[in-house]
Amino acid sequence: MTGPVGVGFIGAGMISDQYLSNLTKFPDVEVVILGDIVVERAKSQAEKYGVAEFGTGEDVLKHPRVQVVVNLTLPQTHAEISSQALAAGKHVWSEKPIGLDRESTAALLKQADDAGLRLGIAPDTVLGPGVQTAKRAIDRGLIGTPLFATTQMQYQGPDLFHPNPSFLFAKGAGPLLDMGPYYFTALVNLFGSVKKVAALGLKGRETRTVKVGPDVGAEFPVEVPSTIQVLTAFEAGQQSQSLLSNDSSLFRQGIFEVYGTEGTLIVPDPNMFEGTITLIKPIPGMDGDGKPQEQETIELELEGVVTGRGLGLLDMVRAIAEGRDHRANGKVGYHVLDVMLSAEESAAQGGAFLDIESSVDAIPTMPLDFDPFAQTL
Ligand SMILES: NC(=O)c1ccc[n+]([C@@H]2O[C@H](COP(=O)([O-])OP(=O)(O)OC[C@H]3O[C@@H](n4cnc5c(N)ncnc54)[C@H](O)[C@@H]3O)[C@@H](O)[C@H]2O)c1
Repeated sequence: MTGPVGVGFIGAGMISDQYLSNLTKFPDVEVVILGDIVVERAKSQAEKYGVAEFGTGEDVLKHPRVQVVVNLTLPQTHAEISSQALAAGKHVWSEKPIGLDRESTAALLKQADDAGLRLGIAPDTVLGPGVQTAKRAIDRGLIGTPLFATTQMQYQGPDLFHPNPSFLFAKGAGPLLDMGPYYFTALVNLFGSVKKVAALGLKGRETRTVKVGPDVGAEFPVEVPSTIQVLTAFEAGQQSQSLLSNDSSLFRQGIFEVYGTEGTLIVPDPNMFEGTITLIKPIPGMDGDGKPQEQETIELELEGVVTGRGLGLLDMVRAIAEGRDHRANGKVGYHVLDVMLSAEESAAQGGAFLDIESSVDAIPTMPLDFDPFAQTL
């Protein structure tokens, strides 16, 4: 590849704004066409972001200047559309989850490998300065040996703001498959492969209603647990507990704490590219009243350039040019899916621990000099 890499979108819905606002600014990529099954949507997004062409998904697949297809369709069609893009000879960046089942997702990885094409999988938030600064802090030994983590994501649910929320409560979503990728991908970036998981899940309600947009009041079924609690054991010895709930009146999201032998790190929300990173160090000994001393709270400086969605795709196209693996790769996407499906299966069975068969190589930290706004291709 020389010069900016041609990018085409399939799916121009809600999240396309975030991708477009970045990918139209990175010099290493050029968005050449937007496609959607509802062509009007592609047209209005193309006009909004100054993209020259729009059309259907098929128009994107056959476009000669598209080298990477950005798959922003719904989880139910991620694997199918990604497979069509690979078959058309395009690299793929797909929203999460990579697919809905192990078989078709494994086949997708093989298809990409056989064709010598790259498969990149969201989330790329974890490659942003927030989680990456925390990763460097752990690598530098600031909390000693990491022992365990706790993560929390709870609120009333995405039907609060999404005009088309039924897919978020259908098979392939729920808080686990919709939001779990942020938390589990961040955990895998920090601790490596998962060895086993156990989970308990429940449904707060059997049906819900659309709360915003043209379909307000429409009822839809809740197909998967809308609250799930997962216990995870990692190959390297760490453990974590994760609560993901769409049934909580209390809004509490982005809780991600890592506890080590020498301190605790409060990691920013893995669904964000930045945030506050706090290191807590115990102060040894007792104070004058014989009580344990206050802890020392140190705010760490955020390292790197904050951008947004599209960062993982940028790492992927630069990785192709540099002949290295990209960080948000298909193997990571598959492993995270495997962990989440196992958690779902464990919950369905009442909470037994299940072994995870897939694994990933250690994911390299983003280099400090990675500048999304540099022209490198
Ligand atoms: N909305 C968010 O805040 C958010 C955040 C992160 C990730 N995501 C993920 O991004 C993906 C898209 O979510 P969204 O919120 O943009 O949904 P959306 O419903 O707003 O948009 C999806 C778009 O894809 C189009 N589409 C569906 N099937 C298609 C096909 N076969 N060919 C061409 N176009 C097709 C639809 O017409 C629609 O315009 C989902 O996987 C979601 O999990 C969404």
